[in-house]
Amino acid sequence: MALQVAEVQGLQLPLGESFTLLWSMGTRENERFDCHPNPGASRESCESLGCVWNESTSTSGVPFCHYPGPGSGYRAIDVRYGPDGVTADVTCDGCGPGAAAGVTEPVGTLRVEATFHTDHLLQFKIFDTSRRRYEVPVPLTLPAAPEASMEGRLYDVTIQDEPFGVQVRRRSSGTVIWDSQLPTFTFTDMFIQISTRLPSANIYGFGESEHPSFRHDLNWHTWGMFTRDQPPGYKLNSYGFHPFYMALEDDGNAHGVLLLNSNSMDVTFQPTPALTYRTTGGILDFYVVLGPTPEEVVQEYTQLIGRPVLPPYWGLGFQLCRYGYENDSEIAQLVQDMNRAQIPLDVQYSDIDYMERQLDFTLSPKFQGLPALVDQIRRDGMRFVLILDPAISANETDYLPFERGKEQDVFIKYPNSSDIIYAKVWPDFPNVEVDESLDWDTQVELFRAFAAMPDFFRNSTREWWAREIAEVYDNPRNASLSIRFDGLWIDMNEPSSFVHGSVDSCRDQQLNFPPYMPQLGSRSEGLSYKTICMEGQQQLPDGTPVRHFDVHNLYGWAQTPPTLQALRSLTGERGLLITRSTFPGSGRWAGHWLGDNTAAWDQLHKSIIGMLEFSLFGIPYSGADICGFFQDSTYELCARWMELGAFYPYSRNHNGKGSRRQDPVGWDSAFAELSRAVLLTRYRLLPHLYTLLFHAHSGGHTVVRPLLHEFVTDPTTWNLSQQFLWGEGLLISPVLEEGLSSLRLYLPDARWFDFYTGEEVGIRRQFVELPAPLGHINLHVRGGSILPQQEPANNTTYSRRNALSLTVALDDALRARGSLFWDDGVGIDTVEAGRYLLMEFTAHTNVLELRVLHGGYVDPNALRFTQIRVLGVAAPVGGVSVERNGQQIQSGHRVEHDGTTQVLTITELALELGQNFTLTWT
Ligand code: NOJ
Repeated sequence: MALQVAEVQGLQLPLGESFTLLWSMGTRENERFDCHPNPGASRESCESLGCVWNESTSTSGVPFCHYPGPGSGYRAIDVRYGPDGVTADVTCDGCGPGAAAGVTEPVGTLRVEATFHTDHLLQFKIFDTSRRRYEVPVPLTLPAAPEASMEGRLYDVTIQDEPFGVQVRRRSSGTVIWDSQLPTFTFTDMFIQISTRLPSANIYGFGESEHPSFRHDLNWHTWGMFTRDQPPGYKLNSYGFHPFYMALEDDGNAHGVLLLNSNSMDVTFQPTPALTYRTTGGILDFYVVLGPTPEEVVQEYTQLIGRPVLPPYWGLGFQLCRYGYENDSEIAQLVQDMNRAQIPLDVQYSDIDYMERQLDFTLSPKFQGLPALVDQIRRDGMRFVLILDPAISANETDYLPFERGKEQDVFIKYPNSSDIIYAKVWPDFPNVEVDESLDWDTQVELFRAFAAMPDFFRNSTREWWAREIAEVYDNPRNASLSIRFDGLWIDMNEPSSFVHGSVDSCRDQQLNFPPYMPQLGSRSEGLSYKTICMEGQQQLPDGTPVRHFDVHNLYGWAQTPPTLQALRSLTGERGLLITRSTFPGSGRWAGHWLGDNTAAWDQLHKSIIGMLEFSLFGIPYSGADICGFFQDSTYELCARWMELGAFYPYSRNHNGKGSRRQDPVGWDSAFAELSRAVLLTRYRLLPHLYTLLFHAHSGGHTVVRPLLHEFVTDPTTWNLSQQFLWGEGLLISPVLEEGLSSLRLYLPDARWFDFYTGEEVGIRRQFVELPAPLGHINLHVRGGSILPQQEPANNTTYSRRNALSLTVALDDALRARGSLFWDDGVGIDTVEAGRYLLMEFTAHTNVLELRVLHGGYVDPNALRFTQIRVLGVAAPVGGVSVERNGQQIQSGHRVEHDGTTQVLTITELALELGQNFTLTWT
């Protein structure tokens, strides 16, 4: 119990006289809400806003300038409750004290509308009724009319009138999960602020930022959000924009909250626990999903924003890339060396090096052999991906992409003007000799060309972009230069610029330096830091003009679907698309790599946190640059990273220019062997990974899964991010530190079996130290799960023809289940068209059933399950009988049961894929 005593000393109150003692009420530290979020707060500036100045704190981050009391000046009138929602008008008299006073014009006529969309999903929107403000043009999937029922709804909503607030309560537990009746509420033109009390201190998400922990530290931290070409770094927002969090309530129920707003913003956490949003425009449009499990939160969230794309099967293979390949022969040699060393490789890339002076849609003289190389790589069963940047050089003569772009009016211009906003990105001026020894700014100044940014919202831009891409695939001027790529990698689409704003200057001071500048790092360059001017004029497909200021965070989002569409129409296949800048919903079309990381040990753990966050954001196909992008990797770091990266859904070793080689054949033969082994394990498990991606695509399940999603009643898992699961049944525990040969890892409450030996560990709900020598990554199968596998090969074209197998891990009740999704691996919309096979596996005591749930695909390779391992079989096994579609068959299989390891192995089976089988052991 903390002491709650105020001591008053030094009094001199004579006995016999009357006195009155008055003490002024301070605000408890955790209850202080920042009244001066702009920098430079002083007693004077604070008090002039009507706020309270109080320096008495020893906790870093506690605001000195805080709101004086509970009032915000806003109150709700005419509150109306109905079966489908709640509405009210919100007015403000004087609009209270605080940050916003005098910042920009207060909006006096607000309306709040809460809509009960489904039993699990509600929306509340706070907007201006007198003037239409910008709203995010990203479509969400909502029922045509509210579908929530009075009895089934998981929540109740109350609108508090004075001060105005919205309260959301989970009915089943009574927990208040949202409560915005706080003094911070402010709605002005360019500064909108709202706080909520949080039901617990377990908050996950928001991004894209490199976070030091998966569960947020609520001790006074602010995180900015604005898409930027910003390598991962502390408190720096990187490429994507995701104003979404998941909260785990103290009883293990979970909910998620999306603020659908695309303006630059920041969020402040405080230990109250509470959260404050500050955004620079748009409206407040919140969507709350009620779970109640963490997995259901992601399912409901992806139902709303769109379910993730199913990548092609080959996209699950290992991928190799670097920035700085000298020429096509270097790539050819590398692929050959990988093949000779028999290290699995499915996808080879070329970065901007293949272009002439980094101009999109051109081919460098040093890469004239690329078209033939790509054909050869494809003949050998591998695939090829090319990079594209959005910035188009404007300093060329006869550069058709720019000429045609101008004709079709695709580039972003200054408002009310025909002047294109010119940035500078990678393209070089014509006829320059680039001197890379010069410092970066000088290089940009001397060598980089003026570049125009296409506005991907316009229909004309989408058509233009598709045509330019098509001319790379099918070169109309010289057929021998056509490059038959299989996938595209869109980079620099924040959009990034190497000059701030433009090569000239920006024309709108207020938009580029808004009165409230979110905490994004570099304040002095304003919002146009490393991007284009905020006044840039863009146009929605229906012709509505929008300012870059409002839609900046949607730039990559808007570029993604037309790119996928172009890719699909050229290749006739599903194709692989990777994008750097993302927004809620980007996962519908693309995967994401975590950007320009550094070859450093801390990046291993950070990459897991990043992947876990992208799981929440509905972009499960993600991964970091294996072995690091910047700086030279080191042997041990890169080896451990290959082990971890073999379990990224998107598994690519990518390197920056100028650093040492780090591909699997760039070290020594031991390194090659270690890479080979761990990638073979990955390839063995690809049918399982593909099945998980199918469940993500069709049902919104996570692929890389935080432990807390499966063991939510165990608080040890709530901030555990050094380990992760694939689905519910495979636990991956990588070594993340230098110099270790054993690893302390957590085994939650379940039976756990060593993936390699099949032996039960026999420890649960405990940390345990297990051997982890270089070359060994700890993998454990959870009792209760069945993992489909396939014999690996050098690439998936060949592995897809190999024998299948199952690992069945029995739980305490001797049960297990799993599934297998299979299709041609490349077709477009196979799930939607039903052209797939879905099998369900269930085991109970001594029976294993393989059942066809959906039989829409027959594999041409006559695939068979030839081996089944059952883990945790204690009793001796006499024999195994096999039934096919209900008929006992003679299958000539062999049975082995090891009483010590308790592994039952059935080999030499020939169970055709797509048929029903029952195996019984006696
Ligand atoms: C930045 C990207 O993040 C990186 O992966 C790429 O290699 C460089 N641009 C060059 O294209």
